[in-house]
Amino acid sequence: MTSLDIASAAQAAQAKGLSGNLKVLERPALAYTPEVAAETAHLYERVKHIVPPVEWPFHAPYVAAINRLKKERGAVILAHNYQTPEIYNCVADVVGDSLQLAKLAAKTDAKIIVQGGVHFMAETSKLLSPEKMVLIPDLKAGCSLAESITGADVRRLREAYPGVPVVAYVNTSAEVKAEVDICCTSANAVQVVESLGVDRVLFVPDQYLAKYVQSKTKVQIIAWHGACEVHERFTGEELRRYREADPSIRIIAHPECPPDVIAEADFTGSTAGMIDYAKAQKGGKVLLVTECSMADNVAASAKDVEFVRPCNLCPHMKRITLPKILDSLLTLTHQVEIPEELAVRARRSVERMVNLTQ
Ligand code: 13P
Ligand code: SF4
Repeated sequence: MTSLDIASAAQAAQAKGLSGNLKVLERPALAYTPEVAAETAHLYERVKHIVPPVEWPFHAPYVAAINRLKKERGAVILAHNYQTPEIYNCVADVVGDSLQLAKLAAKTDAKIIVQGGVHFMAETSKLLSPEKMVLIPDLKAGCSLAESITGADVRRLREAYPGVPVVAYVNTSAEVKAEVDICCTSANAVQVVESLGVDRVLFVPDQYLAKYVQSKTKVQIIAWHGACEVHERFTGEELRRYREADPSIRIIAHPECPPDVIAEADFTGSTAGMIDYAKAQKGGKVLLVTECSMADNVAASAKDVEFVRPCNLCPHMKRITLPKILDSLLTLTHQVEIPEELAVRARRSVERMVNLTQ
């Protein structure tokens, strides 16, 4: 059984409760008119460093339509730091790392959340806001980490290591979250592990985040073998070449990278931590060792920092586009539903983390 159960457009129209009050709408005309140009001119200012003028007429009608419709629907768009610049800068209401998005999902008053991100992020929002409609614009926006482990795998681990608590990276399905003791993100993994007050923990599913946590704590970490298909491609050798070319460069890595990459980094942290560190390097040159949209997004608000961009794209994050966000808002699809029995247990693991790092 997959925990992410999605209603079709037709079901969405008839669905009970909140969605019953909302109609499926037709796509509006999407032309780059002088009115649309004027309405979106201030937003183009934010992305003109990365979106050429010739491309803006294709994005602007979607940006205008999404921004109008999300107000009409009472919706909020939560976008991860890896979303494309036109989503991140022009339609998102809230941007951040997984932890920030989870906390904001719990707090928002909006009736509808559109997740600019991947499945596990949409599921986390639904767990923390069960009464809200949570929409993911593309069902196939997965994650190699979330796909590397199932609930049955966690049950087998518990049998093999009786009494050892299980920490799950938030990059997991609700089904896995339901089987573990607590969740963590890249921003709080060490704190979460140490909060348990034990000598050893099982840590799933990211082997590299597990190694990073192990380098920061005396708690023994027993790791699952998952990996992020984006971050595992970086190598220490390529970073050494960048540093040889310019010894002043600041190398900033995500903890999903392999240990030889982290060994070359001046700073390691969550995507939000990486952004803060990068912005502080005024007048300097930085290399963000992570998904490549992030440098494009940060560059908009860090004009005095030079970004070197090794480009590893996350194919799952890139499934979310402006046309799909618009369709999601129009048709109220795809709605994330998590069976209640599963949601109760999964929510406990996420809330335990959120409460710990409040
Ligand atoms: P952050 O929580 O650091 O944003 O990471 C999420 C993610 O998927 C990184 O690949
Ligand atoms: Fe998953 Fe890696 Fe993509 Fe993040 S970058 S969503 S960990 S595949």
